[in-house]
Amino acid sequence: MQDEWSKPVTVDEMYGGWDYETAVATLDRSLSPRPTESIFDEVGRLGVGPGDTVLDIGGRDGRHALLMAERFGCRAVSVDPVAENISSGRELVAGHECGHLVELRTGSIEQIPAEDGSFQLVFSRDMLGHIEDLALALNECRRVLTPGGFMVIFELFATALLHPEEQRSLCADTATVPERFSVSNFEAAVAASGLTVESLEILGSEYVEASQESGTAPNYLLQISRLRRAKESLLEELGEVPYRAMYGNALWSIYRMIGKLESRIYVLRRDDT
Ligand SMILES: C[S@@+](CC[C@H](N)C(=O)[O-])C[C@H]1O[C@@H](n2cnc3c(N)ncnc32)[C@H](O)[C@@H]1O
Repeated sequence: MQDEWSKPVTVDEMYGGWDYETAVATLDRSLSPRPTESIFDEVGRLGVGPGDTVLDIGGRDGRHALLMAERFGCRAVSVDPVAENISSGRELVAGHECGHLVELRTGSIEQIPAEDGSFQLVFSRDMLGHIEDLALALNECRRVLTPGGFMVIFELFATALLHPEEQRSLCADTATVPERFSVSNFEAAVAASGLTVESLEILGSEYVEASQESGTAPNYLLQISRLRRAKESLLEELGEVPYRAMYGNALWSIYRMIGKLESRIYVLRRDDT
């Protein structure tokens, strides 16, 4: 960050000529970041409604499928490969008033358990980072879309501020494929997939800022501090994988806040109407 200024700050400038309390108050002002749920405004803008069927690929326990069914009156299928996600999702769906509109299926983006042309929209939130073969994944999404259908993708990408070593260890701790952090790699795969980019929204750190302001997310910096300071005892208490996953998840959000990672929403369209 300092590199963008032409000269260093002097001691006189650092401690005189401006008011620290005023600056703190200025930074206490919210910039009104959009919350994470605002991604569903994008889905609404695409006209999803009753009569449509949406696929949430990598949908974990079906929570977002339920949310879309509730908000748009559509049917929704949530596909995830992890057995625990499907079994906890079954309880969630059974206890939800829109559960009759939602179906959970075990499967993966590389082999989506659905017929060709089954969905008006494919929703993919924060899951493509786990995928080795992006071309195969996008091809599958295109296959299950109706012609003219849309894909809404929320993903994180590296900025120039993320150093290669930071990327390597973050990816190792979060089961992320390093190439998935590359915008150019992603856009080349989209171009080859037969899907076209309808719109792109660069959100940067907005969602994570909103979750910090609302208190709906943990204090990631405090988590990292504790994970580092009590590494040996926490490793023993939690086990290696949870320790690394918690460390990676916290760092993931901190990197978003300090601009090493940026969030983007791509809307893609299957054009062959
Ligand atoms: C970070 S979570 C995001 C879950 C959900 N989309 C959300 O936004 O809360 C990543 C999800 O991707 C799923 N996933 C991992 N590999 C996958 C694959 N090959 N195909 C489909 N889903 C996958 C994981 O099981 C997990 O539920």
